[in-house]
Order: sequence, then C-alpha cells, then structure tokens
Amino acid sequence: EFHKHPRHLALSSDGLFPRWDLQKLQRGMQVYKEVCSACHSLNHVAFRDIGELGYTEGQVKSFAKGFQVPSVNPDTGEPATRDGLPSDYFPAPYANEVAARAANNNALPPDLSLITKAREGGKDYVYSLLTGFQNPPANLPKELQPATGLHYNPYFANLNLAMAPPLSDGQVTYADGTKATVDQMASDVTAFLVWTAEPKLVKRVQVGWAAALFLVIFCVLAYLSYRNIWADKK
Ligand code: HEM
Repeated sequence: EFHKHPRHLALSSDGLFPRWDLQKLQRGMQVYKEVCSACHSLNHVAFRDIGELGYTEGQVKSFAKGFQVPSVNPDTGEPATRDGLPSDYFPAPYANEVAARAANNNALPPDLSLITKAREGGKDYVYSLLTGFQNPPANLPKELQPATGLHYNPYFANLNLAMAPPLSDGQVTYADGTKATVDQMASDVTAFLVWTAEPKLVKRVQVGWAAALFLVIFCVLAYLSYRNIWADKK
C-alpha cells in the first residue's frame, strides 16, 4: 500500500475550548487569494464575512473593490464585470465547469468553501495533501505511476492528481512578516478553510458551554426546591 494516512494538523480551533487565531486566518486568506483562487472557487464566502477575521469595514470595502465580479451591462444586456462590493461573494475563477476542465487537463478543481468537511480526514487531509507532493517511490508499480499531467501524492485517494504542487517556499509575502514556508502556508490556508467551512464553530461551542452551565445551575435549583417542597413532609 502506497497510500498514507493524513498527518495531524493542530489548530487553535480544535477541541473543547476552540478559538480563532485571527492572524493565522488572515494569512490563510492571503494564500487562498494569491494562490488557490486561480483555480478554486469559494462560493459560500462573501467579502463581508471576512470582517470576522479582524478587518475593519473600510478594509473589507477596499478588499472587495479589488475584485471584478460578474455583472450585466445595463444598456446592452451583455455580460460585464464591475468592482466588488462587501455583499458580493468571492468570484469563481472560471465561467463554468467546461472552462474549468479545459484549463485543468479535464479535472475539476473543487469549490473549497466546505472542503475541510467534505473529505475524509478533514483539515488533516487538506494540510497533508498540500505538503505531500513528492517523487513516486522507486518500487511503485508501473500502473500506479503518474500519467502525463498528473502528480504523485500519497495522501490522494488514487495517488495521482491533476493539481500540480500549488505551493513553493516564499510564494507569498505575508503582511505580518511570517516566513512563508510551504508548511506554514499549507497550515495557514487549511486553518482558513476550516473557518470558511464553519465560521460559527467557536460561537457554537461557546453557546454549548453556556447551555451546559445553565443546566447545571438549573439542576441545583431544582434539587433545592425539591428539598424545600418536601421539607415538612417527613
Ligand atoms: C484539487 C486544494 C491550488 C487545481 C484540490 C483539492 C484540494 C485542493 C483540497 C481536492 C483533492 C481531492 O479531491 O481530494 C488547493 C489549495 C490550493 C490549491 C488549498 C492553494 C494553496 C490549486 C491551483 C490549481 C489547482 C493553483 C490550478 C493551477 C486543482 C485541480 C484539482 C484540485 C485541477 C482536481 C485534482 C483531481 O481531481 O485530480 N485542490 N488547491 N489547485 N486542485 Fe487545488
């Protein structure tokens, strides 16, 4: 078996007391924008959503404005583009599936909004895939070797995928000065994709704790009132 189990990626959003590492999420968004968005859409994320990553309203507006989104020319009815608004969603890199496949050796780059939920192994898988490109081992049988246009990656279910290694050291220049190694960028963009897949994760767990605490208090109150009600009925 040449297929490998994903490597674990520990994130601050894991576990019983999750929190978002906003700086890391901002770096991850930068990697998505500068690298992955060339081929992958992010259909479920609107520009206004990134306000939650610690950007000001003004920053969100100018970020959105930096994108061209599909629109219609009001005079001719022809397709056109306009500057993005906070209410727009991240535009897709290709007009449709045919165009996407045509540009990618007939493979389809999946939408990344929910990818950390959609694949077995979740975030660990995405992180491992991004850092797992390598030369095929010497003893790899001929029929498992990458065909033209495919790339060997032991974390991918059938070992060879149509995505070339998207990351290389120093590919982005982080706004916060963090060194952009492949491992760092893979970890950051995966953290970002955990957020896109469930932006309410931290809130959900916090509300769960509040509810549990309330139930504990409620149990104490119920017990005390039970004692009180039956106090003189011995
Ligand atoms: C597939 C992530 C950049 C083209 C995938 C998959 C993930 C992914 C998670 C799914 C693998 C699966 O199906 O299990 C990313 C990330 C990127 C990135 C996080 C940025 C760091 C790119 C770029 C291109 C690209 C720049 C195009 C030049 C593809 C294609 C597939 C794919 C064609 C389908 C592969 C296949 O089914 O054989 N990517 N990707 N990706 N990606 Fe990317």
